[in-house]
Amino acid sequence: MEKEKKEKSFEVTPYEVKGVLDDAEYERLMKEFGINPINKQLLDRIKKHTKELHFMLNRGVFFAHRDMDWLLNEYEKGNKFFLYTGRAPSGETHIGHLVPWVFTKWLQDKFGCELWFQFPDDEKFMFKQNLSYEEVQKYTYENMLDVIALGFNPKKTHFILDTKHAGLLYPEAIKVAKKITFSTVKAVFGFTNDTNIGSIFYTSMQTVPAFLPSVLAKKNIPCLIPLGVDQDPHFRITRDILPKLGYYKPAIIHSKFLSGLKLYGGKMSTSDSDSTIWTTDTPEQVKKKIMKHAFSGGQSTIEEHRKKGGNPDIDVAYQWLYFFFEPDDKKIKKIHDDYKSGKMLSGELKAYLVEKINAFLKEHQKNRELAKKQIDKFIFKV
Ligand code: TYM
Repeated sequence: MEKEKKEKSFEVTPYEVKGVLDDAEYERLMKEFGINPINKQLLDRIKKHTKELHFMLNRGVFFAHRDMDWLLNEYEKGNKFFLYTGRAPSGETHIGHLVPWVFTKWLQDKFGCELWFQFPDDEKFMFKQNLSYEEVQKYTYENMLDVIALGFNPKKTHFILDTKHAGLLYPEAIKVAKKITFSTVKAVFGFTNDTNIGSIFYTSMQTVPAFLPSVLAKKNIPCLIPLGVDQDPHFRITRDILPKLGYYKPAIIHSKFLSGLKLYGGKMSTSDSDSTIWTTDTPEQVKKKIMKHAFSGGQSTIEEHRKKGGNPDIDVAYQWLYFFFEPDDKKIKKIHDDYKSGKMLSGELKAYLVEKINAFLKEHQKNRELAKKQIDKFIFKV
C-alpha cells in the first residue's frame, strides 16, 4: 500500500486532476479505476455498425470503457441505447471540453441515438466558494451555445438543467441519495467533515439522467455515457445503485485529457488562461498563446533540431493535432515523421496548429451565434 502510494504520481477525481499522465500512467489509472482497455476486437465490433471508426477511437483518445460489449449485445438484439453526457457550467468552454462532445455527436449520428445532456448548475456552485448563482446561470447559457454549435440533432437532443428541471430530477435523485452513505462519498471524492452538504448530495443528481429516459418511457433503456475519465468516479456509484432500483447499469466510454498548453500530460483547466484556448478566443489570442506557451518537444537551436529532430510524444502542439485538430491520418503521420527527423521546425508545427485551431474556431463561433436562436428547441419540455 505504502509502496503504491509512493509510486503513484497522479491523482484523478472529478474535482482534482494532478500529475503528468503519459501512456504508462493511463495504464495504471485503468487498473485503479477497474476500467477496461478498448481493444481491437471491440473496435471491429463498433465498426461493424458504424462502417468507419472515428479517429479518436483509432488513435486511442477514447481508450477505456465499461460494459461496451453488453451495450452492443443489447443493440444487436434491437434494444437501442441512449447517450448521456454533461457540462458543469463553472466558466467558459475550453477546447478540452469539446473532446467528449465531438465524439458524442459522432455516436449520435452513427447510431441514431437520443442524447440527454445535463447542465448541473448546482454542482460547481456548491463546490466553488467564489462562484455566484448568477455567474453559473450566465455560464450555463454560454456553454449551451457551445454544445449546440457542434451540430447535435435538435429533435434528438434534450438539455436538462438541474435547477430548471428540479421537479423532474428531484423525486429520482432522492431514491438514489437514500442508497449512498457519507462514507462512500468520502472515499470516492475525498470529502471531509468540512465539505458542505450540497456537495455531499450532488452525485445523486448526476446519476439521474442515466435512468431518467427509462423512468419516462416506463421501460428499461440501455445508456452509454461518453466522458473524460475524471468523471468515472461518479458513475461507479451510479453503477452500484441502479440495479438496486431496478435499472440497467450504464455503459461508459472514457477519453484521455487534452493537456494544457504549458505542460504535456496534464489536464487543460479553467484556472490558467495562458494554458487554455477558449472557444471564444480571437485568432490573435490563439496565435499569441500557442507561440508563447505551447510546451515544445523541439531542440533549443535550429541547427540542433535539424540534426537531432524533435520529440512529438511530449510536444503539446503535436499532441493537440493528434487528439483533435488533424483528423487526416496521412497528414498527421507526415507531420510526426517530419518533426521527428528535424525537417519540420517547432515554429512551423505551432504555426500549423494555429491555422487549424483558427479555422475550427471561425466555424464554431459562427455556429455559436446561430445557436442563440435555437436554445429553446434543445431544452427539454416537461
Ligand atoms: P466538466 O464541466 O468539468 O467537463 C465537461 C466534460 O469535459 C470533459 N473534460 C475534458 N475532456 C478531455 N480533456 C480535457 N482537458 C477535459 N476537461 C474536461 C469532462 O471529463 C466532462 O466529460 N460533473 C461534470 C458534468 C456532468 C457530466 C455528466 C459529465 C454532469 N453529468 C455526465 C459527463 C457525463 C463536470 O463537472 O464536467
